[in-house]
Amino acid sequence: MSRGKFITLEGVDGAGKSSHVEWIAARLRALGHTLIVTREPGGTPLGESLRELLLREPMHLETETLLMFAARREHLAKLILPALERGDWVLSDRFTDASFAYQGGGRGLGEQRISDLENWVQQGLQPDLTLFFDLPVEVARQRLAASTASPDRFEQEDLAFFNRVRKVYQERALAYATRIKVIDSSKSIEEIRVILERYILTI
Ligand code: TMP
Repeated sequence: MSRGKFITLEGVDGAGKSSHVEWIAARLRALGHTLIVTREPGGTPLGESLRELLLREPMHLETETLLMFAARREHLAKLILPALERGDWVLSDRFTDASFAYQGGGRGLGEQRISDLENWVQQGLQPDLTLFFDLPVEVARQRLAASTASPDRFEQEDLAFFNRVRKVYQERALAYATRIKVIDSSKSIEEIRVILERYILTI
């Protein structure tokens, strides 16, 4: 039994990744893979409790970062690693690139801190494919405003914050070009699906 593949979705809030989750999942299942769809922060009962705190409760930046990685450790131990070892595939709406982008870029925590936690918690595990949905922040903000009644702690941040988040995602997409594929989210849903299909078929 070969190990399953691990796919993650990333992007600034409002960039449209969540609207593609179900379609990607359906395509992967149609290709014959047993798939687990999950998200971060979250994915386990403890992770979902931490998500509630992370999205609503004001806290120190380092507390926020540690809780993101605590939820991630639980997610890896209870769900992601056992699934991959069984040969199942895992599709996660966000993973560690989000910590580099939001806690590192958005909030200004040093990259080394995040790398240290990444090494500790993941012990070398990286996604096989990351789909980064990219969109100018002004457009993403408009989409978000139209779809969100009560914005969370991250969604309430200003344009400058999201521009810093986007910049880190773009830098990481360049630095890890084999793993991270940039999807131009200003294209139509049909055009995006054609691009997604190509990436899904090549991993
Ligand atoms: P979501 O709205 O895409 O479900 O993600 C929840 C929020 O959590 C989103 O605004 C990004 C943020 N986040 C981080 O700041 N760091 C992380 O490591 C992760 C996984 C998410």
